[in-house]
Amino acid sequence: MGDKTITDNFRCDHGIAAQSILLGARELGLGGCMIASIHQRNLRGCLNIDPNHEVLLVIAIGKPVETVVLESTPVDGNIRYWRDSNGVHHVPKRSLDEIIVSTYR
Ligand SMILES: Cc1cc2nc3c(=O)[nH]c(=O)nc-3n(C[C@H](O)[C@H](O)[C@H](O)COP(=O)(O)O)c2cc1C
Repeated sequence: MGDKTITDNFRCDHGIAAQSILLGARELGLGGCMIASIHQRNLRGCLNIDPNHEVLLVIAIGKPVETVVLESTPVDGNIRYWRDSNGVHHVPKRSLDEIIVSTYR
């Protein structure tokens, strides 16, 4: 949450914090993911959040139950996750070469 008594402009701070929390969770053998698509009003009501705090991200953390395999994206570029008949979760990831823009020649 962002404390609006300090600022109204949180920029990327919550993303940096969330990434650190998730990396820490991973070190403890936990898994998690960031969720930005949240129903503000319901969540505020359930957790009794005071008006000075803005919900910026929710982080779900738990014990992983699935086997996840990271793999290169197929030639058609499809990045949809899929599960095989053994329930293994396949997660296509774009390569670093593809996502890092370099202007160095
Ligand atoms: C800032 C941010 C917000 C996100 N919000 C959502 C969300 O609202 N719903 C959702 O299904 N995934 C959301 N994601 C994606 C998941 O947190 C996660 O990154 C994605 O499922 C890829 O997981 P992986 O990196 O473990 O493969 C968000 C990711 C980021 C970085």
